[in-house]
Amino acid sequence: MITSVLAPPFAIAFRLQVRRALLIKTSFPENAMNRLRVYLSFSLIGPLLCGVAQAQAPTASNDTDRANALLKQMTTEEKIGQLNQPLYLKLPIPSVKTDPVSYEDRVRRGEVGSFLFLTDPKEINRLQKIAMTEQRLHIPILFGFDVIHGFDTEFPVPLAMAASWDPAMAEQAQGIAAEEAGHAGVRWSFAPMLDIARDPRWGRISEGAGEDPYLGAAMARAQVRGFQGRPENPRPFMATLKHFAGYGAAEGGRDYDAAYISEERMQNVYLPPFRAGVEAGAGTVMSAYMDLNNVPASGNLHLLQEILRKQLNFKGFVVSDAFAVGSLVTQGFAENAKDAALRGATAGVNMDMGSATYLEQMKALLDEGHLTESQLDDLVRPILAAKYRLRLFDHPYADATEQTHSEMLAKHRPTARTAAARSAVLLRNEGALLPLAKTTKRIAVIGPLGNSKGDMNGPWSLTAKAEDTVSVFEGIRAKLPDSHVEYAEGVQIAKTFPSSFDDFIGPKLEKPWSPEEADRRMKSALKLAGNSDAVIMTLGELSGMDFEYASRSSLSLPGKQQELLEKIQSLGKPVVLLLFTTRPLDLSWASEHIPAIMDCYFGGTEAGNAVADLLVGDAVPGGKLPVTWPRSVGQVEIYYAHTNSHKPYDSADFTSRYWDISTSPLYPFGYGLSYSTFSISDLHLSAKTAPLDGSITATVTVANTGARAADEVVQLYLHQRFGSASRPVRELKGFRRVTLLPGQKQEISFPIGREERNYWSAAKDGWVIEPSDFDVWVGNNSQAELHDTFSLLQ
Ligand code: BGC
Repeated sequence: MITSVLAPPFAIAFRLQVRRALLIKTSFPENAMNRLRVYLSFSLIGPLLCGVAQAQAPTASNDTDRANALLKQMTTEEKIGQLNQPLYLKLPIPSVKTDPVSYEDRVRRGEVGSFLFLTDPKEINRLQKIAMTEQRLHIPILFGFDVIHGFDTEFPVPLAMAASWDPAMAEQAQGIAAEEAGHAGVRWSFAPMLDIARDPRWGRISEGAGEDPYLGAAMARAQVRGFQGRPENPRPFMATLKHFAGYGAAEGGRDYDAAYISEERMQNVYLPPFRAGVEAGAGTVMSAYMDLNNVPASGNLHLLQEILRKQLNFKGFVVSDAFAVGSLVTQGFAENAKDAALRGATAGVNMDMGSATYLEQMKALLDEGHLTESQLDDLVRPILAAKYRLRLFDHPYADATEQTHSEMLAKHRPTARTAAARSAVLLRNEGALLPLAKTTKRIAVIGPLGNSKGDMNGPWSLTAKAEDTVSVFEGIRAKLPDSHVEYAEGVQIAKTFPSSFDDFIGPKLEKPWSPEEADRRMKSALKLAGNSDAVIMTLGELSGMDFEYASRSSLSLPGKQQELLEKIQSLGKPVVLLLFTTRPLDLSWASEHIPAIMDCYFGGTEAGNAVADLLVGDAVPGGKLPVTWPRSVGQVEIYYAHTNSHKPYDSADFTSRYWDISTSPLYPFGYGLSYSTFSISDLHLSAKTAPLDGSITATVTVANTGARAADEVVQLYLHQRFGSASRPVRELKGFRRVTLLPGQKQEISFPIGREERNYWSAAKDGWVIEPSDFDVWVGNNSQAELHDTFSLLQ
C-alpha cells in the first residue's frame, strides 16, 4: 500500500494499523482462525487447565522477582499482549477507522498491556475490571497519557517552566499533575520531554527545556522526581523520558524530519538531560520517530542498546513513539511488518505504542525462530515489574469522583498562579513603564490572545477544560475592579496549512472573518486603544501553532498582528506587549518601538491572574530565557554555547558573521529583567590552580539594589581554553534563583568539580577531564562579564 509521504506519521501509521487489523480479519482467514482458537483456548480451556490461575499478590522480595514469577505462568500470547499499547481514541480523521476488535475483547484476551489516551475514570475502571476479573491472569492494565504540564490544573508549558529556572517548582508542578492524573486512574505520563531544541521553527520547542543541556538536565531531574516522587517518598506514578534521542535536531526545523547528530553532539548536548532523567530513576523511555543518522530511532541498536542500556544503564522499559514500530517499514528500514517487529524488538523497544505490529507479528517471529522465548521474556519483564512497582496489582482502580476535578482545581490553582508568574520573562521595560499603576483608569486589552482561555492552557493540555481557565482580560478585570478594562480582538490568526490535530486538540479555530469584518475589527481595536490610558497588546501564536506537527518557516507574528501593533503604537499611548508563544518570534521592530515587552508563554489555568499580578507588580518577573532569542529566522540555529571556530565573533575581521545583520542575538540565553535591580559582585575562586581531579568553588555576592522584593537568577558559565577538542565559548555550569528583599545580599557558591569539567572529546572518542586554563563568568545572563580564571594541572 502506498501512503502519501506528506501525511503525518501519526496518520499514516494509524491507517497502516487499521489496514493491518482489517487484513487479519479479511485476507488471512487462517490467521483469524488461529486467533479464534487462541481466544477459545484462553477463555474456555485455559481456566479449566489452570484452575484459578492468578497473578499472585507480591510475595517475592522485589518487583523483578515478582515479574519473573508471573512470567512463568504466562503463555507466549499473553506475554506478547503485555507489549501492546493500543490507542483508546476514535480519531476524527476521515481515513482512520477503528480497530474492529472491541477494547473489551482485546482486554479479555490479554492483548493489552497498556492503553493510551483513556482518561475517563469510569471507563478506566470498567476496562480494568475486565482485566482484573475476566482475563486469565488478572494482570492490570497500565493507563498512560500525555500528562505534559497538568491534568485537571494546567501549569505553564514546559519551556515556560524552564524559563523559571526553578527546578523545585517544576518538581512540585509535576507532583501535582501526577496526583491529579492518578485519581483518574492514569499512572503513567509521557513526559518529561527532554529534547534539546535550538531551532524555534520546530513547534515542539514548547515541550522541552530549551537549548541548554545543563538547564535541561536540571529540569529533567526535577520533573522525574515530581512525577515519581523522591526515593524516600515514592509515588505510584511513572515518568517517560522522551523522545530518545535527538528528535529536536530535525532538519529545517520540520517536525518528524531526519536528524544527523555526531557522537560529540549527542553525548555533550542531546544526552545529558536523558542521563539525568535515568539517574533520577525514570521508569520508561520513549524511542523517537525520526531517522537518526539514517537509522530510525525506534529500531536503532546503537542508540537503544549501546547508549541507553549500556552507557546510561537504563533499567526500565522502552515504549515506542506512536506507531513508530510500524513506521519502520514506511521509513524504508524494515522490509515488512514482521521485519519491523523483529527490528523494534531486537533494538530493545519493549512496548509498541499504537501500531499493533508486535501483537500481530511476534508469534510468527517466535515460531520461526527469529526471536527466542527468553528474548520475549526480557521485553516483558520490565513492564510487569513496573506494574508491581506502581502497586497496580493491589490498587488497579481510579478513585476519582464527580467532585475530584473541582477539588483538585481549588487545591492547586494558587500554585499554578505562582508558577505562571515565575515563568514570565520581562524582555524590555523602558522608562519603567511596568508595573502599571493600579489607579490606571482606562485599559485596553487588544489582540487575538487577550480573551482566549483554551490557548492559555497551551499545547498538550488535553484534559484541561477551557472554562476553568482565566483569560488575560478576565485576570486584569478581576485585578482592577475600579478601572475600565475593555477588550478587542483586532485581528485573527490562523495557520496557512492546518494540521490534522487542529480538529480535535486545543481550542476550536474561529471561522475566518470576511474582509469587511476584518476591517471593522481592526478599526474598533484602534478606537478602543485611542480612548485608553494604557494598551495591553496580547499577541503571539495559537497554542496549536507551538505543538507537534506545527513547524513554521518564519518567526514573524502570524497574520496581521504586526500591522495591528504598529498602528496601535502610532497612537502614542503607553503600550505593553504581552507575548503568548513558546518559540521566540521576530521582535526586531517591537524591541525598538514598544517600551515594555513580556514573554508570558502559555501559563495554564491561572495564566490570566498571573499576568495581572505581573502587570501591576503584585508579582515581579524573574524568569530568564531558556533559549537564545534570534533577531530573525535567518540566524537560526543560534545558541550561546557555540565554539569559536575560526575566530571569535567579536574579532576585527574574518569572523563568522552575516553582512546584513549582526551575529549577536536580540536577547541572549539566560536574559530577563526585573522590576528591581541587582548587583552580582566579588567573584572569588577558592584556588587559582587545582589538580586534575580537584574541585574549585566560585563564590559571588548578589544584592538587591532596587526598591522591591524580587528574584534574580545567578548563573555561572565556564570555558576551557585548550584541550583535545575546542570547547564552547561558554557553558552553563551552575545557577540559583534567589529571592531578596530591597537592600538584602546573599553569598552564593558554585562547585566546579569533575562533573562540570568533563566532556566527550571526539579526538579521544570518549569522556575526558583535561589540564587547561579555564574562564569563569558569573552574572544574570550568558553574556555575564564578571570574570576570573583558574588552571587545572596534570
Ligand atoms: C508524540 C509523543 C506522544 C504520543 C502519544 C506522539 O505523536 O510524538 O510525544 O507522547 O504521540 O500521544
